[in-house]
Amino acid sequence: MIFTTGGIKGGSGKTTLATNLAVYLSSQGRDVLFVDADDQESAHEFSVQRDSALQGNKGYTAVRQKDKEVRSEVLKLSGKFDDVVIDTGGRDTASQRAALSITDVYLVPFYPRSLDIWTLEKVENLVSEMQIVNPKLKAMSFVNRADPKGIDNREVGEMLKESSVLHYLDTPLINRKAFANAISFGLGILELKPADDKASAEFLALYEAMRSVINS
Ligand SMILES: Nc1ncnc2c1ncn2[C@@H]1O[C@H](COP(=O)(O)OP(=O)(O)OP(=O)(O)O)[C@@H](O)[C@H]1O
Ligand SMILES: [Mg+2]
Repeated sequence: MIFTTGGIKGGSGKTTLATNLAVYLSSQGRDVLFVDADDQESAHEFSVQRDSALQGNKGYTAVRQKDKEVRSEVLKLSGKFDDVVIDTGGRDTASQRAALSITDVYLVPFYPRSLDIWTLEKVENLVSEMQIVNPKLKAMSFVNRADPKGIDNREVGEMLKESSVLHYLDTPLINRKAFANAISFGLGILELKPADDKASAEFLALYEAMRSVINS
């Protein structure tokens, strides 16, 4: 299965989800290819950090690709792996479109603020266009860096729920230092010590919600 994290907003949590997904899937015994398709190369930096933290045993294969090679190289390699996770940048780029032309699951985090939610229509248009060439594409949204309390999350959730193009996963990741810490150590959230049980539970709930949509 090919998973892509993306959207049309910077800093929403695409790489945070992609790294956790790559680590989690490989912890489940899946043979994972993790593709950094963002020029910023944050996913690549994560993998370098993880390699050094785990003495070369990061548990997945990492590559960097850009533009149309994201499509051609992943198509070439995907048969050798159980799963592929592609991390894209927060703009409507050739790389993101190349990923969307072959992905099964497109995951779009939204930070619960107006400027972020205003990109929803653009994301919907992008998905609709890409579904013409890739009808199997399933797009999903969720709230990331949610406020621990307050009505913003709920209001944003209501807006995302109304989309007929993206399935809304009602399993937010709260704004927790543990997510940022795990990335900086090259770890998945479930590997962090001491563990952050709430953050771990949120990630697992998000993963299960995504699985339910895939199986629906
Ligand atoms: N749930 C969260 N709780 C706390 N911090 C978070 C959370 N999600 C992401 N962050 C932090 O927010 C910042 C942006 O996250 P991330 O790099 O995953 O976003 P991105 O969408 O990949 O950004 P870019 O558009 O630059 O690629 C990072 O410093 C990350 O550690
Ligand atoms: Mg990123």
